Amino acid sequence: MTYTAQTQVLQIDSQNPQSDHIQVAVEILRRGGLVAFPTETVYGLGANALDGIAVERIYQAKRRPANDPLIVHIHEVSQLDLLAVNIPDSARQLAQKFWAGPLTMVLKRAANVPSNVAHGLDTVAVRMPVHPVAHALIKAAGFPIAAPSANTFTRPSSTSAAHVLEDLNGRVDLVLDGGAASIGLESTVIDMTQGEPVVLRPGGILLEQLQEIIPSVRLSPRFLAMNGQQVSSSPGMLTKHYSPRAHLMLFDGPLDVVMIAMADTAQRLVANGKRVGILAVEEEAPQFTELGVRIISLGKRDDLSQIARVLFGAIRALDAQGVDSILVRSFGQEGLGAAIWDRLIRAAEGNVIRVS
Ligand code: TXA
Ligand code: MG
Repeated sequence: MTYTAQTQVLQIDSQNPQSDHIQVAVEILRRGGLVAFPTETVYGLGANALDGIAVERIYQAKRRPANDPLIVHIHEVSQLDLLAVNIPDSARQLAQKFWAGPLTMVLKRAANVPSNVAHGLDTVAVRMPVHPVAHALIKAAGFPIAAPSANTFTRPSSTSAAHVLEDLNGRVDLVLDGGAASIGLESTVIDMTQGEPVVLRPGGILLEQLQEIIPSVRLSPRFLAMNGQQVSSSPGMLTKHYSPRAHLMLFDGPLDVVMIAMADTAQRLVANGKRVGILAVEEEAPQFTELGVRIISLGKRDDLSQIARVLFGAIRALDAQGVDSILVRSFGQEGLGAAIWDRLIRAAEGNVIRVS
């Protein structure tokens, strides 16, 4: 079963969202429809979080197996008590420090949250976005909004309204087009229900920043395992998320050796009649220009924020050009590098080429 709709698009001012546009969106949400809206991380595919039937439509529209719980979006901290119970003090501290912003906290679920929001788990993931359009929408709605990233299952998350339409045209009632998402990668997800907080998904709020508030915060063993040598021997660890149509090859190792390996691989693939795309930073792109490959620039080498912002769009652009393979290198594990690595290794389905 799928959800079908006549998709309307409204251009909305990202700083001062027009209230009549917000009102159109609220009406749709009230009657159980779906609205895609911009947040500072990626676009969300939203429904009334307290309406289990509307929530079900999200899974149908995304063609997502309903085994992946959704994030519930709020506009003020007081809404937290509507959604969660037994909220630890540490969660309130994190909320005070990092909300509104790209941090999602997993908490014990309150009884009035439909269980399909959390796929039957007794927890719920909550986030307060800082984007003015998201904020205005949730506030005007008066109810929290459940929203996964607005992409179809296995496609990279949408960082623009155009991406949303690529994946969801005809399956969402309204797209609020507020321009490009400024962070470009999804929020950091932290589990606050396990005693010591654990980061399940690295993102816009860095592990280092979280540790300043709660020193014991650590990355989930699952994430660490993905960085170990056992990656290729246990590909089942990697949910098939963010996968482009093309085969993505992620190179890791000392930069000079990685450059040689990428160029060699590209040459070999091109010689075999394959169409190859390379995601490269400006400083490194010239090394690939003679190879007959398509190159998309990710910006400057040291600007991880820029790399994060354009990454999903760049993968989509290469996919749209019909390349068979996408080559990209790791940008390290420090700071935002951890989130970039997490998204790349998933897009590569664990296929890391380690050189030394
Ligand atoms: O930046 C974001 O987080 C975006 C914007 C739209 O807010 N949303 C997003 O949603 O990325 P989604 O559904 O694509 O990813 C939600 C993540 C998944 O990794 C999911 O497993 C985790 O949050 N999650 C949600 N509820 C959870 C729960 N109760 N327990 C553990 N993990 C949960
Ligand atoms: Mg997603």
